Formats: sequence, structure tokens, C-alpha cells
Amino acid sequence: MIRKAVIPVAGFGSRMLPASKSIPKEMLPIVDRPAIEYVVKEAARAGIKDIVLVTHSSKAAIEDYFDTHFELEQKLVEEGKKQLLAELRDILPSGVSIISVRQQQTQGLGHAIACAAPVVGDEPFAVLLPDVIVDCHGQAEDLGIMVAKFMASAAAQIMVKAVPADLVDRYGIVQLEHKIPALGESAPMVGIVEKPSVEKAPSRLSVVGRYVLPGSIMGILARTRPGADGEIQLTDAIASLMQQHAVEAYSMRGRAFDCGSKTGYLQALFHFAARHPDLGAIAKSMMAAEIRDNAIDDVSG
Ligand code: G1P
Repeated sequence: MIRKAVIPVAGFGSRMLPASKSIPKEMLPIVDRPAIEYVVKEAARAGIKDIVLVTHSSKAAIEDYFDTHFELEQKLVEEGKKQLLAELRDILPSGVSIISVRQQQTQGLGHAIACAAPVVGDEPFAVLLPDVIVDCHGQAEDLGIMVAKFMASAAAQIMVKAVPADLVDRYGIVQLEHKIPALGESAPMVGIVEKPSVEKAPSRLSVVGRYVLPGSIMGILARTRPGADGEIQLTDAIASLMQQHAVEAYSMRGRAFDCGSKTGYLQALFHFAARHPDLGAIAKSMMAAEIRDNAIDDVSG
């Protein structure tokens, strides 16, 4: 099995300012829980036991969130608030541990992942970028499928989805050996490039923020020089990995929300509010009422 997952959370979240000025962007709520909880739970459902947060001194609220708040729990016990207590105790699924390491310099995603090397060792591991929240609508989940494919073939798995041409310069873009795999399937990759111009992009398939990688990527990352934006890029290390190890693009089935941007965050908020087991019905009628009232305002104003 893949036991470990690395989640890099040291970034400042400048795309979410001012909301992220004094709280980590990963702690911004999607309905009634912070974004990072969705990502940690996704990892846990894929069988991950050790979550390695690569973090920064300004982001201690994330570690605190996954820690036990003894005094609060005691108060809820005394007040008989069993349901709330159960919810708090379920924030970190049982059997899952949080381990944190610090990223001392801001040198990019590749550097952040390399900071986890002393914990990961030479084991294969997953990477989940916390800006991305994935919803698989109750179907088999993409990360779980990627882990199963890695276990079966040992080929690294890079989750991808097609994007419009005007967005390719925001993502890692992959090049395939043959045709695009069906949703939920993988295909051999022969190239990957970080944020290419549309003219230079080898495809429209973007890297979405979920990876299953062999431990050998850590040695490669240690030798990877700064690339796009002057940062050490995970994408460049994956390009080197392809010279010595099979790497496959996995075509995601679910829906990805980029919660590191204001529009992606809003979309996630509406989506998860509408699907919330307790609040969904009221959230949908509130959204409908807002649309109606604002349409009237637009006409009369
Ligand atoms: C990172 C990766 C990029 C990937 C993207 C997905 O970029 O470097 O390859 O496509 O995440 O969200 P960032 O968004 O950190 O600039």
C-alpha cells in the first residue's frame, strides 16, 4: 500500500488575499469545515496513514486543527453534546497521523516536496496539493484508483484533465505517447512541461494536483535546478523521472475545484453547500432566492 502522503501548505496564498492575510488559506471554510479537512479525508479514504504537512511558522493553525482540543472536548462531554463531539473527533480519521516538517525557504513546489524526504524515505508516496479539492460524487475516488494502478504496475500516476487553450499557461501540461486515456484510466507519458505558452504546449492536458510517485523522485528533486518562475519545479523532476521509471497520466473522473483562487473557492462553496447533508436543501433555496432578488435589483437598479 501507499502509506504516506505529502501535502505542501507553506505557500502564502496571495491569490486569496486579503482573506488569507492572517489565517492560512487552507483554513478558509468550505461550508462548515476548512478546505484542508476535505483534502486530508480524501487521502485517508485512499488508504493513507501518515500525512506529512510541509509547512511554515505562520501556518500553525493547520496543525492545531488536526490536534485534540482537550478543554473543548471536555466541555462538550459535560454538556452532553455527543453529535458535535463525534464530529470534532472525526476531523482526523482514526489510524491517521499528522507529521509536520518546515519549509525554510520559498523555493517552489519541488523544494517543498523535497523537504519531506527525511520522513518519506525511499517509499512510494502520494502528493495532494491543498488548493485542489476533488469531488467524485460518491463514485470510486480518483486518488484511490491512482494508488491501485501504482500498486499494480509501479508506474507513477499523475492526475490530469483537459483545459481550454487559454488556461494551459497556468498548469503543468503533459505529453502522451498515444491517445488520451478514457476517464478513470492511465496512459504512458513521454513529456511534461510547467506552464508552457499555448504555442509550446504539447497538449491541453493539465496536471491537477494529485500524484503517486516512487521514492526515487526525492533523489531527483535534490538535484533539480530552478526552472519556471525561478523555482524548483516538481514538474521538472517528473520529466527526469521519466528517463528511468514509467510515468503515466491518469485521466480524472471527478470534478476538481481550484480553491486557491477566488472564483474556484466560490464555486467549491456553492457546490459543497448544495450537497451538504444537513444544509443542502436550505442552501439551494437561499442561492435561488439570491439569484431572483439580484435579478430584480439588476432590472430595477
Ligand atoms: C502547481 C504545479 C502545476 C500544476 C498545478 C495544479 O502549480 O506546479 O504543475 O498543474 O499546481 O494546481 P501552482 O498552482 O502551484 O502554480
